[in-house]
Amino acid sequence: MDRKTWIAASAFGLEGAIAAELRRLGMENVRAENGLVRFDGSVADAYICNISLRFCDRVYLLLAESECRTFDALFRLVSAVPWEQYASGREFFHISAQCARSQLMSPRDCQSIAKKAILERLKVRSGCKVFPEDGPEFPVHVSIHSDVVRLLLDTSGSSLSRRGYRTWNGEAPLRETLAAALVEFSPWRPGMPLYDPCCGTGTILIEAALRQGHLAPGLHRSFAMEKFSFFPAKEAAIRKQALLDACAPERIYGISGSDLDASAVDLAERHISQAGLTGRISLSVLPLQQVTLEETNGVFLCNPPYGERLGDVEACRSLYHDLALLQKRHPTWSLCAISSDPGFEKAFGRRADRKRRLYNGRLECQFFTFMGRRLR
Ligand SMILES: C[S@@+](CC[C@H](N)C(=O)[O-])C[C@H]1O[C@@H](n2cnc3c(N)ncnc32)[C@H](O)[C@@H]1O
Repeated sequence: MDRKTWIAASAFGLEGAIAAELRRLGMENVRAENGLVRFDGSVADAYICNISLRFCDRVYLLLAESECRTFDALFRLVSAVPWEQYASGREFFHISAQCARSQLMSPRDCQSIAKKAILERLKVRSGCKVFPEDGPEFPVHVSIHSDVVRLLLDTSGSSLSRRGYRTWNGEAPLRETLAAALVEFSPWRPGMPLYDPCCGTGTILIEAALRQGHLAPGLHRSFAMEKFSFFPAKEAAIRKQALLDACAPERIYGISGSDLDASAVDLAERHISQAGLTGRISLSVLPLQQVTLEETNGVFLCNPPYGERLGDVEACRSLYHDLALLQKRHPTWSLCAISSDPGFEKAFGRRADRKRRLYNGRLECQFFTFMGRRLR
């Protein structure tokens, strides 16, 4: 199959980081828009993106895109897609739809029209008469926004944030894709010490370790596209092997953290082991008020409670003040934290050197960076 246009779905604020990753992976014609990044590549390229992208939610194949204001127009758009090139006829056609600010506002009607159009085309073009739908899932998404319809084939299956290592969730864990983005947006670079003083279930530390060890986050999970009839299994296996060969877990060092909740630290230990990182990240049960480290020029990176989901606002603000004291005890360390609390900087006691708006789920947050004074 020749080159196609793909869409990497993104949480708000991560589009630029995903575009940079796609360029690093050698994808062509990379274009960031609100909530998504388009790129061109082969089917095997899309597979490598599923395995490698750290901040992206899902990779879709863009099948068609056009303005549609009526059900007839939607039917014609879906019918024009060469479904016989993508599906054998045995697949279970799972159609989802999302409508916003459009003439077509009924997801259920859009789903059934799309399904009817797909099956009718397959009947005519491939001679299929019955569709047992007992084969692999074929997830088609109809996205309608401001009357523009995008027909998308979901190549990922479950969200790419599900790396597979986190099977037990603590209180308010961070999505893996957002944790990876915090690592990226912080001043930490592999080789420097990294410490999460509120590590919870360990997501930030694990994502940093995966990056330091060149471990692509999707190496140990499967993707919906592996079952598609047009999946180039041989080429994909060769390219995945190259990613496996590039793994260098021995490069992981200097990553550690703590939390005052012993059960959270237990969960973090389990996740570290599930990520294949046993012995590569050190953890302890400790309130951040007691953290003292000997290393210099490191980065504290954390997702403290915000007061909305855990604890109350005043207790959280006192914790933010304690984070400032933690940095005072370690003046060569930078400190980064994400919070939805508009009073964060006031409680911390100074303005952040850098701020970036991000969303933790639906919660609007700021990612604050307070730079340390690096020793040469
Ligand atoms: C929002 S959760 C962090 C979630 C984590 N990023 C994850 O992915 O699981 C905040 C964490 O801060 C911890 N915490 C609260 N007060 C603390 C303190 N004084 N010292 C250390 N940890 C604290 C809580 O136990 C909780 O695990």
